[in-house]
Amino acid sequence: MSADPSPRLPLEQAGASDEQLQKVHAILLREKPEPTEGYSPLPLLLLGLMSALILFSAIYLGRYSGGFDPLVYDERILPGMLENGAAPAVQDPKVIGKRVFANCIACHQTTGLGLPGAYPPLAGSEWAQGPEDRIIRIVLNGLSGPITVKSTSFNSSMPAFGPQLRDEQIADVLTYVRSEWGNTAPAVSPDKVKEIRAAVATRTGPWAPDELLKIP
Ligand code: HEC
Repeated sequence: MSADPSPRLPLEQAGASDEQLQKVHAILLREKPEPTEGYSPLPLLLLGLMSALILFSAIYLGRYSGGFDPLVYDERILPGMLENGAAPAVQDPKVIGKRVFANCIACHQTTGLGLPGAYPPLAGSEWAQGPEDRIIRIVLNGLSGPITVKSTSFNSSMPAFGPQLRDEQIADVLTYVRSEWGNTAPAVSPDKVKEIRAAVATRTGPWAPDELLKIP
C-alpha cells in the first residue's frame, strides 16, 4: 500500500464515511462503459455492404471471365484478328505446319537439309514431294531400312509420330514440308491422313522404304 504515492480511491481504511463510499462508487461508475440497449445498426450496414460487394463481384466475373469460352484462347487466332471484327479465321496450314515441324527439327534441321550420313534431307527430296500415300505412312508409323534420297544412301530409322500428332497436325506439317525450301508439292489434307490412319490401324513397327516404293 505504501508503494502507491497517490491512491486514487479515498477508501483507505475500514469505517469509511457515507460520503466517501458515494465518492468511490461515483468513480467506479464513471470508469465503466455506458450501458447500451438493443443492437447497433453498424454491423447490419456492414453486412449489407459486403453482400452487395459479393453480388457485384459474382456478376462482374460472370460477365468478364469469358465464360470459359474456348474462343478466349485459341492458338489459331492471332492477336488483332478479333478486334478487326474478322471471323475467327483458321490459320494457314503452313503456319501451323511450321510449328508442328518443331518435332522434326532435331533430325531434319530447320533448313530441311538433314545431317549428311545420318538424316536425309527434306529440301528437294523426291520422297517428301512424292506420293502422299507414302509420306503419311512414314510420319504415322516411322521408317527404317536402306533408302536413297537425292542420290544419297541412308540407312537409319525414324520414329513413329502417329500416336502423338493429330490428323490435322500431320497434314499441316507435311503441307509445310512440301512447300518449304523450294519444294513444290501439293498440300496434304487432314481427311487423307484420317483415311490412311484407318487403313494402317493394325500396323505395328516402322515401314521399310522398299515396302513403300510399291505404293503408288
Ligand atoms: C529422330 C530423327 C527423326 C525425326 C525426329 C524425324 N525424322 Fe524423318 N527421317 C529420319 C530418318 C533417319 C529417315 C530415313 C530413315 C531410313 O533410313 O530408312 C527419315 C525419313 C523421312 C522422310 C523420307 C525421306 C526424305 O528425306 O524425304 C520424310 C518425308 C520424313 N522423314 C519426314 C519427317 C517429318 C515430317 C518429321 C516430323 C514430324 C520427321 N521426319 C521427324 C529421322 C527423323
